[in-house]
Amino acid sequence: MLKIENLHVYYGGIHAVKGVSLSIPKGHIVTLIGANGAGKSSTVRTVAGLERGKGSILYKDKNILGRPTEEIVRNGIALSPEGRRILPHLSVEENLRLGAYIRNDKAGIAEDLEWVFSLFPRLKERAWQAGGTLSGGEQQMLAVGRAMMSRPELLMLDEPSLGLAPLLVKEIFSIITKIRSLGTTILLIEQNAFAALSIANYAYILETGSVVLEGSGQELLHNPQVKAAYLG
Ligand SMILES: Nc1ncnc2c1ncn2[C@@H]1O[C@H](COP(=O)(O)OP(=O)(O)O)[C@@H](O)[C@H]1O
Ligand SMILES: [Mg+2]
Repeated sequence: MLKIENLHVYYGGIHAVKGVSLSIPKGHIVTLIGANGAGKSSTVRTVAGLERGKGSILYKDKNILGRPTEEIVRNGIALSPEGRRILPHLSVEENLRLGAYIRNDKAGIAEDLEWVFSLFPRLKERAWQAGGTLSGGEQQMLAVGRAMMSRPELLMLDEPSLGLAPLLVKEIFSIITKIRSLGTTILLIEQNAFAALSIANYAYILETGSVVLEGSGQELLHNPQVKAAYLG
């Protein structure tokens, strides 16, 4: 569904992504794992049209690199950004509706709102609460739910488990698995390598801007190099 080929991203003199290639088949969870500063966010932000890059990003065989974010969202790609980025003064429901800003089918939006609420019952209970008053885990769910409101075919999640307590990490990962089972393809960025590899069909490990290792989630879970560097 998505094929990134030889992607380079620069910030002035900083070469953040150095020729990354990766492929995401329809219906799979592909995870991108790496330490802080490895270039994970730069990679997905470029797919989302938020950074400039060189190389190619083929989505359904069409190069989308350099296209505006709105067009990319319209084509079916959504990003739940790192650090939650919800609007604290808007209610939970208003934050979710923002995720559907590219759409104008009222009935469809109402249906998807109910669907997102069914995935995240915690959000439904708090529909009228200001986003900023949610706990960290609930805000993360809100960020994922908001991305789902554009009805993406490809959902990109940038560190959804960052800073969450173990129980909530478990809950978020079980929701991610459920989203895949409902037919959405997922690119999952994580530092929590164990949880990500456990649910991923395929994984890439990024170090200082380059892919250094790739394989199925199970393969990498049992790889001694990965165990030493990422699984503590
Ligand atoms: N807006 C920016 N301006 C300058 N440098 C940046 C910017 N965003 C990221 N970088 C740098 O690019 C590199 C990769 O960052 P990032 O993609 O955020 O990594 P990760 O998400 O894996 O932690 C880092 O060295 C980071 O400091
Ligand atoms: Mg990042």
